[in-house]
Amino acid sequence: MSERLEDIAARMMTAGKGLLAADESTATIKKRFDTIGLESTETSRRDYRQMLLTADEAMRESISGVILYEETLFQAASDGRTLAEIIVAAGAVPGIKVDTGAKPMALFPGETVTEGLDGLAARLAKYYAAGARFAKWRAALAVSDTLPSFGAIKANAHALARYAALCQQAGIVPIVEPEVLMDGEPGNHTIERSEAVTEETLRITFEELADQRVSLEGMILKPSMVIDGRKARRASVQEVAERTLRVLKRTVPAAVPGIAFLSGGQSTEEATAHLSAMNAMGPLPWALTFSYGRALQTEALEAWGGRPENIAAGKRAFSHRARMCSLAARGKWTK
Ligand code: 13P
Repeated sequence: MSERLEDIAARMMTAGKGLLAADESTATIKKRFDTIGLESTETSRRDYRQMLLTADEAMRESISGVILYEETLFQAASDGRTLAEIIVAAGAVPGIKVDTGAKPMALFPGETVTEGLDGLAARLAKYYAAGARFAKWRAALAVSDTLPSFGAIKANAHALARYAALCQQAGIVPIVEPEVLMDGEPGNHTIERSEAVTEETLRITFEELADQRVSLEGMILKPSMVIDGRKARRASVQEVAERTLRVLKRTVPAAVPGIAFLSGGQSTEEATAHLSAMNAMGPLPWALTFSYGRALQTEALEAWGGRPENIAAGKRAFSHRARMCSLAARGKWTK
């Protein structure tokens, strides 16, 4: 019999652990590799992900699940094992990004709707067979004085709920990710505006999840934090933590087993500090942890620099940041 959704979610939310988002699309990982002057090829992408997934200390102590991109799920490591097998051997759960990207939304200038529902049931069956036990779908909402519109929030929330229902039917735990962008355009919104938009977005998302009969016990929420826009940053760690928790308490039912934040363009240290501050304000109704991409990887990518002789240094950098995030997931990180 397949493992219950609640049990998979519980493994993903193991105390003191969190998720590594290594699911950059081919276009996004190229941007990351550009920062170290490395060409993005199937092999360089494989080598980089293999370095992260074989960082034993990080994987054993701090990482409960890894989100992969489709190419990586089916890719073999240099020793012939699939990367998904390496994740399982480390005691973590393999996951897969299944949306096909945020696309311009018809009749809604400046806004996007995330696509990928057509044919998703068949793809999920294929991913399950390859070992994936959770999935991710990201909606992206840009903030200005007037955006996001109700129509864009609603369309994205509906797609998230349809995706989540398909996942649960396939025995896969859906990560529901409605990202309120801090680094979108124009990027100068206040933290008050972020709070209002995040609250409305989460409220509509949970309404749609209920309408589509999604089991709250069998899903994980991946939200952005309540934070001022990239060009307007002034809120303190305490303020980000307080406002984020206030919104989550208002909108996320206690039946949801866990919340795993994205880092969304925060610096590595900010993302760690904010998570720790929130956990220190517990007890909370749900597990509160990380599902970071950039905040977990930036230092490792720089330390590696695309050079085989730097693999050990890359693993050390990743293990260090994963340990800091793990402390933050327990509310125990200090500078
Ligand atoms: P960041 O932490 O870099 O925002 O990535 C997390 C993620 O998976 C976004 O979808």
